[in-house]
Amino acid sequence: MALRHFLTLRDISSAELKAIVDSAIALKKSLRESEIIEPLKNKVLGMIFEKSSTRTRVSFEAGMTQLGGAALFLSPKDTQLGRGEPIEDSARVLSRMVDMIMIRTFEHEKIERFAQFSSVPVINALTDSFHPCQLLADIQTYVEYRGSPKGKRVAWIGDGNNMCHSYMNAASLCDFELVVACPDGYSPDMELLKRNKQNVTLVRDPKDAARDADWLVTDVWASMGQEDEQKAREASFAGYQVNHDLMSLAKPEAIFMHCLPAHRGEEVSAELIEDTKYSVVWDEAENRLHAQKALMLFLAREAAN
Ligand code: CP
Ligand code: NVA
Repeated sequence: MALRHFLTLRDISSAELKAIVDSAIALKKSLRESEIIEPLKNKVLGMIFEKSSTRTRVSFEAGMTQLGGAALFLSPKDTQLGRGEPIEDSARVLSRMVDMIMIRTFEHEKIERFAQFSSVPVINALTDSFHPCQLLADIQTYVEYRGSPKGKRVAWIGDGNNMCHSYMNAASLCDFELVVACPDGYSPDMELLKRNKQNVTLVRDPKDAARDADWLVTDVWASMGQEDEQKAREASFAGYQVNHDLMSLAKPEAIFMHCLPAHRGEEVSAELIEDTKYSVVWDEAENRLHAQKALMLFLAREAAN
């Protein structure tokens, strides 16, 4: 049995990423045609959420049901996790009862520790450092709209956060050029930048990133857990809003993505996010469902091998 986890995109190869995206596209088509595909019948996904979620929770839960299995929502408020039961113990106990575990938490180190003690695949459903599931959906969306991202120029505008880090890993895996534009003091992790330096560059001026880009992407200025910094961040990120002015510097066929939830008037203008000439955010959100179904099938198959 090959136990595989999905804690960052680095846990899969470029070829595996491509296979997962292809499978997501096929699963989407099957669902549209009301085909019933239940390879995970009687399987159970445990879902631990230490932060809020709409898309991630609903897409994993609906996805697991569609694949014939079931999903359990586990809130730390109602489990012993919230009362301080050690991660190592929770991982060993839960993984004896369920077939796969998805975790959304704060420190990335926590999910690594959980995975170390888990006997079933663990999926990162967002940590302070990475959000790899969102990238599966984003890549699927780009492929559907414009084909392979290889060789494209992608502009990340905003905070050097968990999403930005996952884009940096994606740049290497898919071989696209990523230009990250963020204010001084909000740069991504420098070690990760070094590791992905063939594909990633850091600039300060959002215009330098947007110019000639094929794909623009942003995210909230204050992530979950940074609510107290909201006001200070609004000041630091002034000038980093993705709007039609910035979009006009990109290639005419460029598209705009945002993992959502979005703050209109802050990191993105209300006009741009609603402009379907550029914005693909609703397809991007839907693709969480298809991409994660493909991911769960991949991990289940690996575990069975
Ligand atoms: N994009 C994303 O992960 O959304 P949720 O926080 O609603 O799950
Ligand atoms: N960077 C955001 C992403 C939300 C899906 C956060 O961590 O809150």
